[in-house]
Amino acid sequence: MRLNIVHPGSEELKYEIRDIVKFANKLEQTGLNITWENIGDPVSKGEEVPLWAREIVAEAASEGSASYKYSPTKGMTKAREFLSVARSRETGVNLSAENILFFNGLGDAINKVYTWLNPSARILGPNPAYPTHSSLEGAHGSSAMLTYKLDPLNNWYPDVNEIRYKVRSNPNIAGLLIINPDNPTGMVYPRKILKEFVKIAQEYELFLIADEIYANMAYESSDFVSLASLADGVPTVIMRGLSKEVPWPGSRCGWVEFYNTDTDENFALYAGSIENAKMTEVCSTSLPQTVLPTILSDPRYPKHLSARLARYERRGRRAVEILGSHPSLHVVMPRGAFYLSVTFSEEFILKPLNIPAANPEAQKLLNAELAAIHEADFDKRFCYQLLGATGICVVPLSTGFNSYVPGFRMTLLETNDNKFAETLRTIAAIIPG
Ligand SMILES: Cc1ncc(COP(=O)(O)O)c(C=O)c1O
Repeated sequence: MRLNIVHPGSEELKYEIRDIVKFANKLEQTGLNITWENIGDPVSKGEEVPLWAREIVAEAASEGSASYKYSPTKGMTKAREFLSVARSRETGVNLSAENILFFNGLGDAINKVYTWLNPSARILGPNPAYPTHSSLEGAHGSSAMLTYKLDPLNNWYPDVNEIRYKVRSNPNIAGLLIINPDNPTGMVYPRKILKEFVKIAQEYELFLIADEIYANMAYESSDFVSLASLADGVPTVIMRGLSKEVPWPGSRCGWVEFYNTDTDENFALYAGSIENAKMTEVCSTSLPQTVLPTILSDPRYPKHLSARLARYERRGRRAVEILGSHPSLHVVMPRGAFYLSVTFSEEFILKPLNIPAANPEAQKLLNAELAAIHEADFDKRFCYQLLGATGICVVPLSTGFNSYVPGFRMTLLETNDNKFAETLRTIAAIIPG
């Protein structure tokens, strides 16, 4: 090539959640049954989208032209008006329909929010974190995302002093990110900590980003509160979507809410630039927006959500019971979403790890994979060995979620209770105590 055509940030683009699938697919060919615990897709794991919701979609698809034409760039007016009323009621803060912008899934929104930041402006985000944030923020800044630690020994809560220190010592930090409820830890930020984020943002003139795609997946006892209701004038971007809660990940439908664009001119310009970026693509998918008000306002919707949450909470307790009692493992009861992050004791990490694969062919494949995985990536080596031995496909925290602490993430999505308990027991049995 006459010029290097590779983007300097391209090395930051990682998505282990799907990368590990390549190895799992090869193992399947050796006769191993794979237990897919890697992806947060309730539908793939066998959850049914309720019939009444599918009927609403079918009706919209079969009639008229609304769902077949382009929508306005910001999104369907009725969907934005519906959200404006519903969200203003929920948070007690007025959200104009004009400040809502639809995307093709939150993945698309996250991409644009970082891509259209000034190249030198950086966002300080959680560690571990859902990799689309850490990858795309890192790619935007051409170096790894700056992070604050979530502490597994303190319910995965962050230390606000660390955040304050990092903001003070790095003038390029322009914003703070939270994922609430959090993926991969299932942590829900307490109100007190959210207020600290707001205070730091006020003190250093930062803006806030809250990925709240799991907002309606916060367990009842979690006391979840949307950052929008605490933002107190701070420019704030809230991210929401349909993927997890309907659940309808294939809809590719998410949206962003901009708060307090009137308090900072630069933030208003930034919000406008993201809308313009969307405009160059014309708009997002129309069908899910067409049915959004009908589905979300259906009287059956809250019952559908609470039944699902009760199941996740029950599975979370079961996981804590089985894995939490293992001397080499540490787990924190999730308070929202459908994930569990498991970390290892220091003794376990220091021991050599050698879990034999299920059959000679699988062993050959495993050896080839392990040869390419760095010795220091203990949790990745563990996940690949667990997969080769048992077919259980979980995601390493370090390479999968940009994590400083080794461990793995599994889901709480298995619909068969016996299989779920069996998976937990198999994991526990393979780890020396
Ligand atoms: C925290 C978080 N944000 C965003 C997304 C992306 O969601 P979407 O399906 O809307 O692209 C996910 C998907 O797993 C997620 O966990």
